[in-house]
Amino acid sequence: MAYTCSMAASSITTRLALFLAIFSSLLHLYVSYYEFQVGDNDGWVVPPKNNSKIYNDWASKRRFTVDDYIRFKYTKDSVMEVTPIDYERCNSSYPHFFSNNGDTIFKLNHTGPFYFISGVAGHCERGQRMIVKVISQQKDDYASAAGGGRSVGASNLVIVLIHFVSLCLVSYLF
Ligand SMILES: *[C@@H]1O[C@H](CO)[C@@H](O)[C@H](O)[C@H]1NC(C)=O
Ligand SMILES: *[C@@H]1O[C@H](CO)[C@@H](O)[C@H](O)[C@H]1NC(C)=O
Ligand SMILES: *[C@@H]1O[C@H](CO)[C@@H](O)[C@H](O)[C@H]1NC(C)=O
Repeated sequence: MAYTCSMAASSITTRLALFLAIFSSLLHLYVSYYEFQVGDNDGWVVPPKNNSKIYNDWASKRRFTVDDYIRFKYTKDSVMEVTPIDYERCNSSYPHFFSNNGDTIFKLNHTGPFYFISGVAGHCERGQRMIVKVISQQKDDYASAAGGGRSVGASNLVIVLIHFVSLCLVSYLF
């Protein structure tokens, strides 16, 4: 990446390097994951009778990459991550992961499918379950990610601008 700001004087090189290191780490953190809210504004609920596949429809329209987060919002319900067989059978006996605090943030920490069900009796059977398929992260792929419901792609240009402006600011400040 080329910067047209005048280069800083050598006496402040160390401080500049430190600033850049910190700033780049923050930038990296910001662009390297995304948080999705399951079901958008409806949250994690028992789907309506005439539309029981809402969660798999929701998930299939989005692009999840490793280290993204999904957030479940619900009341008087729960979230479990289970095996494929337990997903098929709505078996809540041995979840890998369980939460019922009403606002669950789950990290998609590996590629491949994750299987979620509600742990409340009868809810999974009525369609409150979801498969999330996670693909590996390609850092230079933000633009194509924008079409998949991610917002990082859209804000990538803004990030580059912020980066550039900060660099210019630094060369004045130091
Ligand atoms: C389901 O039924 C409700 C009304 O009961 C209706 O508003 C909604 O559009 C229906 N959804 C689908 C996918 O058919
Ligand atoms: C749930 O799965 C466990 C084993 O994983 C099994 O022992 C149990 O019988 C199953 N329960 C139901 C209701 O299928
Ligand atoms: C993902 O997270 C789970 C639960 O915290 C953990 O058991 C598992 O080892 C993690 N997998 C990877 C690949 O980090």
